[in-house]
Amino acid sequence: MLISGSGTNLQAILDELHAPADSGVECVLVVSSSADAPGLERARAAGVSTQVVAMADHPDRESRDDALADAVAAAKPDLVVLAGFMSILTANFLGRFPDRVINLHPSLLPAFPGVDAIGQALTWGVRVTGVTVHFAEVEVDAGPPVLQEAVPVRYGDDEVSLTARIREVEHRLLPAAIRLFADGAVRRDPGDRRQVGIGSEGGLR
Ligand code: GAR
Repeated sequence: MLISGSGTNLQAILDELHAPADSGVECVLVVSSSADAPGLERARAAGVSTQVVAMADHPDRESRDDALADAVAAAKPDLVVLAGFMSILTANFLGRFPDRVINLHPSLLPAFPGVDAIGQALTWGVRVTGVTVHFAEVEVDAGPPVLQEAVPVRYGDDEVSLTARIREVEHRLLPAAIRLFADGAVRRDPGDRRQVGIGSEGGLR
């Protein structure tokens, strides 16, 4: 898992998927883009290996991504999960894990990509926003969705109240998406790579 900040989504995954012995899902490594991300402590408390790969320690994004990819590849993950990883990844990284990197974003993409998605939704005045788990691609927040869920925006909502409602959904949706991958229940259509089927062959939805 790649993180940058508080790591509440990492915590949801640790609690729901990593901790239960019979879940069949193990979080093998947490890499943070920042040495003081509180999420690192959550990983350590759960006995998960951690590493820091910071932009400041590299001359450019390409070399940072080479180092990041080396660290991730050494842990041999089946799936790479960006859970609040707030740094753009280049093809150097993504090309090393084709169709195996997913990202969590706090809006119903393609609405409100990039930074401050929740603030963007409030500024726009939308009545519905949401959460997207999608395949990561070089273009930011642009890969095809695996799971999406709507979250209502209520009159009088502010950043704090809407963030709380969105986080609740994130903490369910991201573990659910990882579970689908673990069960082999996510299929990216080879003929049209924007189409993602969920379920088993013959019963894809
Ligand atoms: C989450 O809301 C996630 O959707 C968002 O960062 C937060 C991380 O929270 N990611 C993005 O905005 C990516 N564009 P957490 O550190 O408590 O899991």
